[in-house]
Amino acid sequence: MPTTLEAKTPRLVTALPGPNAKRVLEQDAKFMSPSYTRDYPLVAKRGHGAIVEDVDGNAFLDFAAGIAVCSTGHCHPKVVAAIQKQAAELIHMSGTDFYYESMPQLAERLGRTMLGAESKKVFFTNSGTEAIEGAVKLARYATKRDKLIAFYGCFHGRSMGALSLTASKSTQRKGFGALLSGIEHIPYPYAYRCAHGHTEDTCGAEILEQLEGQIFKRLFDPEDVAGIIIEPIQGEGGYVSAPKFFLQELQRICRQHGIMFIVDEVQSGMGRTGKWWASEHAGIEPDILCSAKGIASGMPLGAIVAKETVMRWKPGSHGTTFGGNPVCIAAALATMDLIESEYMENASRMGDYLFGRLADWTKNFKIVGDVRGRGLMIGIEIVRDQRTKEKAADLRNAIVDLAFHKGLLVLGAGENTIRLSPPLLIDQEQADFAVRTLEDCFREAQKRSGKLRVPWLLQKKYGGHGIFVYTAREAGGIGAGTMPIFSQLMFRAVHWAARRGLRGEESFSNDAKKQELGASACEEKPIHYWYLRKQGYIFVARNYTPRGIKGEIDLVGYDGKTLAFVEVRTRTIREGLPALPELSITREKQHVVVRTAQRFIAERHVGECPCRFDVMAIDNCPGQPPVVRLRKDAFSPQR
Ligand SMILES: Cc1ncc(COP(=O)(O)O)c(C=O)c1O
Repeated sequence: MPTTLEAKTPRLVTALPGPNAKRVLEQDAKFMSPSYTRDYPLVAKRGHGAIVEDVDGNAFLDFAAGIAVCSTGHCHPKVVAAIQKQAAELIHMSGTDFYYESMPQLAERLGRTMLGAESKKVFFTNSGTEAIEGAVKLARYATKRDKLIAFYGCFHGRSMGALSLTASKSTQRKGFGALLSGIEHIPYPYAYRCAHGHTEDTCGAEILEQLEGQIFKRLFDPEDVAGIIIEPIQGEGGYVSAPKFFLQELQRICRQHGIMFIVDEVQSGMGRTGKWWASEHAGIEPDILCSAKGIASGMPLGAIVAKETVMRWKPGSHGTTFGGNPVCIAAALATMDLIESEYMENASRMGDYLFGRLADWTKNFKIVGDVRGRGLMIGIEIVRDQRTKEKAADLRNAIVDLAFHKGLLVLGAGENTIRLSPPLLIDQEQADFAVRTLEDCFREAQKRSGKLRVPWLLQKKYGGHGIFVYTAREAGGIGAGTMPIFSQLMFRAVHWAARRGLRGEESFSNDAKKQELGASACEEKPIHYWYLRKQGYIFVARNYTPRGIKGEIDLVGYDGKTLAFVEVRTRTIREGLPALPELSITREKQHVVVRTAQRFIAERHVGECPCRFDVMAIDNCPGQPPVVRLRKDAFSPQR
């Protein structure tokens, strides 16, 4: 009998998350930055091949590969041996100041993978973001120009320069102020949603026209443009591929104007699409190529590979302490051996096999709008309606969560796409398991969506994030006598939400009079409900107590933009001035509220909704009406 890690398919031995996982989640909620976006509570302990075991001994089949990083699977023995050998010999020297043999070795190998006769030079970084950051500097340096063109939907990283190019989700930019100037974004060719009705082969002609006819004529003279940067297959944007002709035309435009053609292959490279680089499928020869993720099987390494004639910056113009660390380079050399000898070919073969199995999914599942990608970079776009192509982020999230509970790890990409980015070593048995599991999940999700579809208008108006619950009474109230159809729709919304585990606010006072402040002076609940409603909140949950962690949130409200976690403090004031609301909550309690809120966000998949923490103080003075004060944004998790 194989051990859990040696098995090829999952084995779940506890409910998820298990008891040990819960402990880690609690600690994580307490100490980790809340900016991370975890889709489900996997607490990984060890991995082997395409199997990951969690801290409770549950084994999962990994079709996410640490965001397309573990190209040779988890802890491939050859990669581990290379790391161990190197770590015992030399861990660090800093390639900026010293030499070591493996650095030019890897650079030479990477250069050889790129198309084009011209020799290449390489700069090593610690991450994809740093590779992009360096590529931008290099393009500016080499051309002595400063303007850049990037594409909507592309993700290039989160440091200030890379973030200025990223145009994936506004949450990634919000709150960070001014970014690099001189960058213009243009649409990415997205065949499934092509406004001009083009196919996968022809989509994008109008975008090129816009670039040459509008951008170059009205905004940036092409002689001022340092670089055009593109992902040949968008990763975070939803696994959307740019057509071959589009990449070729971009290259032509770049050559014509002396613009650097920069290709971001951080996610799409290193054999994932069946060739070293996704851009190879289009036969293009970029001036600068950025790599990271799969390059070293999980060790932090990135690379800027550029034509020798381009990478001619002077000593001191760019450098790094850790980039190209000997241990990472050893892992990368072992990774390249494995990709070259078997995994690139396997990615191509298993990719074809998976595409074959998914070929009929748009016919079999009404919620599948598109299946696309190349090799083991596969995107499945989830829609509410194939005709309208309405994006169904909630269903996508539900599928990702269902898959986890069935032992399959997948991630979302873009607003409503499921990404399959397994390690490149998966075999047919594992591909079959993933397909079967996803089929089950899709069936379940489809059942949910089919029965109780909330009309788009309602969701937009009342539940932009799919979290809103209206009471049956409120629904009835709105509909009664005036708009019976609307009333019916509201009821459907209530049921829709209830099916997703969102509870309605049943106990909102039935007696309208009781909602008047003062009429039930010392009764706490009607007052704070009344008060919050007056503030324009919609109730989402009350006394939310997540399973497995100790904590409660008195009220969760939504004001149309922000999710507010409200702590209600009721006090009896006998003499003196009552304290300010925000002072009435201790730091320990703040921690509990934040932790509980994080769980709420994770469970409801509302991670993209802006949040804040409010404190409401209800001060009861005997014989007088209570004083209600609400302090919005009373505390923040960072403080
Ligand atoms: C295409 C692309 N470029 C750049 C990055 C940034 O890489 P890193 O997270 O290693 O900094 C990513 C990360 O997802 C990516 O997918």
